[in-house]
Amino acid sequence: MISKTMQDAVNEQINKELYSSYLYLSMAAYFEGVNLSGFAKWMHLQADEEREHGMKFFQHLADRGGRVQLKAIAAPQTDWKTSLEAFKQVREHEAAVTASIYALYELALKEKDYPAQVMLQWFIDEQVEEEKNAADIVQQLELIEAKGTAVLMLDHQLGKRGKE
Ligand code: FEO
Repeated sequence: MISKTMQDAVNEQINKELYSSYLYLSMAAYFEGVNLSGFAKWMHLQADEEREHGMKFFQHLADRGGRVQLKAIAAPQTDWKTSLEAFKQVREHEAAVTASIYALYELALKEKDYPAQVMLQWFIDEQVEEEKNAADIVQQLELIEAKGTAVLMLDHQLGKRGKE
């Protein structure tokens, strides 16, 4: 059975993942509003992934006799000045999520919670990809920001993303 300390920390992480989903859904709404449907699609899929992350933690707690306790999800920002500003925020947000996953892993080490350590390995790998994806898009946007047509090409490319 999972310890109370770990249970509380995992419940906090569920909230962070669900907030991430809400933030990216808000970014999807922003991109829909400025008629960049490829960016919007990317954000919708990202929001779905974050919900799945939350559910992985949810199921881990439930499977180990823990009690899932959902907390209020903060209202996300609703507007951004540019696509670049939004993706810079994604990059920063993912770095913060990585830090919280590392803190959770350190707690699992301290608590000698081996199942949580194994479960968190998946998230540690996932965060490498999450941070890379955001950094790559920021870099591309920085290269092409001055040329509006190039942004539309990137929008087309993002729109090709399939369910992963
Ligand atoms: Fe659930 Fe984007 O990390």
